[in-house]
Amino acid sequence: KNVAIIIGGYSSEYNISIKSGNVVFKYLDRSKYNPYRIIITKEKWYYLDEENNEFLLERSDFSLPLDGNKIKFDCVFNAIHGTPGEDGLMQAYFELLGIPHTSCNHYEAALTFNKRDLLSALKPYGIPCATSYFINKGQSIDEDAIAEKVGLPCFVKANRAGSSYGVSKVYKKEELETAIENAFKEDHQVIIESFLDGTEVSIGVITYNNEVKVLPATEIISENDFFDFEAKYMGKSQEITPARISETQATNVKERAEFIYKVLGLKGYTRSEFIFIGAEPYLLEINTTPGLTEESLLPQQAREAGISLEALFDSAIEEALR
Ligand code: DAL
Ligand code: MG
Repeated sequence: KNVAIIIGGYSSEYNISIKSGNVVFKYLDRSKYNPYRIIITKEKWYYLDEENNEFLLERSDFSLPLDGNKIKFDCVFNAIHGTPGEDGLMQAYFELLGIPHTSCNHYEAALTFNKRDLLSALKPYGIPCATSYFINKGQSIDEDAIAEKVGLPCFVKANRAGSSYGVSKVYKKEELETAIENAFKEDHQVIIESFLDGTEVSIGVITYNNEVKVLPATEIISENDFFDFEAKYMGKSQEITPARISETQATNVKERAEFIYKVLGLKGYTRSEFIFIGAEPYLLEINTTPGLTEESLLPQQAREAGISLEALFDSAIEEALR
C-alpha cells in the first residue's frame, strides 16, 4: 500500500513535525507499505525522495505525478503538528477526497486543537480544568480583570498551538501585556489560565488492534519553570514512565483520559496532559497528532506498554483503513 506521511505544516512546529515524520518513515513496515514523505508548506506540497529531490503533488486529488505515472495514496499518515494537520484542515480535505488518514476526523481535530472550545465541550461532563480568560486579537487587554479572574501566577497561551510555542508563565500583572503579544504571534486567540500547582502527567490513549487502549502515564519534572520548549526537546526535563503516582491517581487519570477520548469520539493515537490537584486530574489539553520524535512522550509510553513503534504505526494505518 502507498502511504503518504505528511509532515511540515504552517506553524512553528514545522521542525518538530519533520522529526516526527522521519521516525514514522524509519519504522514503517516495508513489507506492507511504500512510504512517501510529503512536505506540506504554505508555498508548496511536495514529495521528497531519498536523494532530496522534490516532486510537486497534484492538489485536486492528492496524487503524485512521478516518472510518467500517477501515484495514488491508499492512506495518509498524519505527522503534522499544529495547523493544518492538527486543527482539522487537512482532515477535512482528505475526508472530501475519500482518502483514509490516521488522525481523528476534521471536526474533532478542530475542537480539540482549540483549548477554549475543548474545555467548554467537556464542561457538562464535570471534567476539572484551570480557570481561564479568553482574548481575541484586537480586543482591549484588562490586566486587572485577568488577574482577578485567574490569579497570579498564571499561564498565557496561544489558544491554538503546540510544543509550548507562545506560552509564558506570568508572575506580575505588568508582564501580562508582553506575554499576550508573544502568544498572539502563534494564533489570533489567546487563553490565560490559572496556575495549577501539582504533578504534571502526560498520557497516551490510542486505538490499538481495534480497541481503545490507555498507555502508561509519564510524569514530567521540568528543570525550567514549566514544561517549555527547551524542557520538551532539549533535555531540560526528567520524564518518568510510568509516573510515580498513587494507585488512586493512576486509576483516575487512566479513566479520565479514556472517558474523554470516547466521549469526544476521537480516533487514532492521542496524548493528553493533566495536572493533579490531590487525586484529581485536571485537564490541560489533548494532542491529536502528538509528537513522535525520539524525545517525544508517546513513543516512550508505547515502548513501556510493550508496543514497538513499528506495531504502533502499523496499527494506526490499519485503523485508518478499517
Ligand atoms: N505538540 C507536540 C508535537 C506534542 O504534543 O507532542
Ligand atoms: Mg500540545
